[in-house]
Amino acid sequence: MATHKLLLLPGDGIGPEVMAEVKRLIDWLNAQGIAHFETERGLVGGSAYDADKVAITDATMALAQASDAVIFGAVGGPKWDQVPYDVRPEAGLLRLRKDMALFANLRPAICYPALADASSLKREVVEGLDIMIVRELTGGVYFGEPKTITDLGNGQKRAIDTQVYDTYEIERIARVAFDLARKRRNKLTSMEKRNVMKSGVLWNEVVTQVHAREYKDVQLEHQLADSGGMNLVKWPKQFDVIVTDNLFGDMLSDIAAMLTGSLGMLPSASLGEVDVKTKKRKSLFEPVHGSAPDIAGKGLANPIAMIASFAMALRYSFDMGDLADKVDAAIAAVLASGLRTADIKSEGTTAANTTQMGEAILKELQALHG
Ligand code: IPM
Ligand code: MG
Repeated sequence: MATHKLLLLPGDGIGPEVMAEVKRLIDWLNAQGIAHFETERGLVGGSAYDADKVAITDATMALAQASDAVIFGAVGGPKWDQVPYDVRPEAGLLRLRKDMALFANLRPAICYPALADASSLKREVVEGLDIMIVRELTGGVYFGEPKTITDLGNGQKRAIDTQVYDTYEIERIARVAFDLARKRRNKLTSMEKRNVMKSGVLWNEVVTQVHAREYKDVQLEHQLADSGGMNLVKWPKQFDVIVTDNLFGDMLSDIAAMLTGSLGMLPSASLGEVDVKTKKRKSLFEPVHGSAPDIAGKGLANPIAMIASFAMALRYSFDMGDLADKVDAAIAAVLASGLRTADIKSEGTTAANTTQMGEAILKELQALHG
């Protein structure tokens, strides 16, 4: 059996608590001989800053580069609000994405039937929802140069961020999205702001060309990102796959998360290009929720997004789609049984802490695995 090298980066806040539930799963898979994972651990974010005065060390970056997949918790918290900008907790995550060239961020938003009432939208709007947001992750305004704050000397300052996209960056993210659409309901919606942004004009043009050249069989539509956001809360089931840039994808995926009931439910995968020689790709898997410092250490965190992120690792990095299906089914079964962490608690359901939720999911998985 192949050995897979995982780097676990729990990070800050609730990161370590939700990571512990993934570790429980990994240990069981190893013990059963279902898979063989070798795990290492590292610091990232505020916890790395406290230890080494950086958001991630070069040594941890080297471990990440050498791993088959990075499993990432969350970073940040008020404790580090005052640290220098270039070593703030988020810089660790951004460096991982950039240095590992993880340009494709997959954020599925699935509304489990049991949770349709936890959404702030009406049941009929979200029940059965299954959409995939594909966010460009290594370009755009989060990374573009110049990126500065200049003192103009007259009591004013000027801040500049630069939105920049090259053709190849749009082409490769479009291909990832079209390929996913083909495996799903064959519909892709591209979102940009071509009415006000040059990068939106190019984005629209390139996606249209990739479609005409390589993916004519997929239904393509374009929406402006602002009205796309509106449509996402108005009638989200009109979408299958959405492809959009780094900034819009950041915002739209948080919106999509809330459709499903809680930010604690949404997993994500960040993928690099497939290496032609090894056929492997660099990858990182993380829940979309943040470090939630207000509830950290209290056993209140929902581990589902973290566990579902690990399921995405099984699916996208290790070709274990059947096992990933079982993990997803175990999550659905536990929710259907009425177990709920605080973020998704509703009347008539049973309260669970982080550990109880993790244990229940593993127990279901064991049953499913027979
Ligand atoms: C996300 C987060 C990150 C982002 C932060 C933590 C840098 O919001 O993954 O969506 O902005 O990309
Ligand atoms: Mg975000």
